[in-house]
Amino acid sequence: MLNLIALDGPSGVGKSTTAKRLADALEWDYMDTGAMYRAVTLAFQRAGITLEDSDKVCRLLSSLDYEQKGTSYYLGDENISEAIRSPEVTKGVSAISADPRVREILVNLQRKLGQRGNWIVDGRDIGTVVFPQAVCKIFLVASPQARAQRRLLELQAKGISTTIGEVLADQERRDHLDSTREESPLRKADDAIELDSSNLGQEEVVAKIIQLFKQKNGGK
Ligand code: DC
Repeated sequence: MLNLIALDGPSGVGKSTTAKRLADALEWDYMDTGAMYRAVTLAFQRAGITLEDSDKVCRLLSSLDYEQKGTSYYLGDENISEAIRSPEVTKGVSAISADPRVREILVNLQRKLGQRGNWIVDGRDIGTVVFPQAVCKIFLVASPQARAQRRLLELQAKGISTTIGEVLADQERRDHLDSTREESPLRKADDAIELDSSNLGQEEVVAKIIQLFKQKNGGK
């Protein structure tokens, strides 16, 4: 067993906010695997590389210099925390993250990091593929409306103007790509606990997961 909580679920369900709060509450580290797929997407876009450019894809992946420091993300010395949340990266990341070459490199990196310490890891395939031996697996879900409404508020807070219809359409597109791809599709692990956050506040979700974790961990 690894001292690791796997937190999977579709986009916009509140995984990263929940994971950060859980990490604070338990004094564990937080690994944002979506940020890794976003960082690779940004690197591909900047270098003008498409997935068909086999040689360039392999060269870029083998020289990838990605690091997470606290809640900031770096490519080399550059802090890319904001750049990886741009609409262009968000649009491109589903296709890049479906590529087996990209997944192999990032899953290896995730496993290497996760070997030591205590981690909250969020993503799509953490409980099924990356860390099937996690001590506690949560599959977070919420209704499409609840997820889109939260995402709309986040975008508006960043000054990005959009509509609930656009957010819902983009969310549906990403859900479809993430759950129908051949490589590690979004799927609840058989031994994961499903938690519906549609009608729960952030604090309630975190408290519920801590309770579930303690039950799994023999009350410790
Ligand atoms: O969680 P997020 O929106 O930052 O994730 C960005 C993309 O990366 C999303 O399209 C799904 C993909 N992803 C993945 O395929 N596997 C993971 N473990 C994490 C994210």
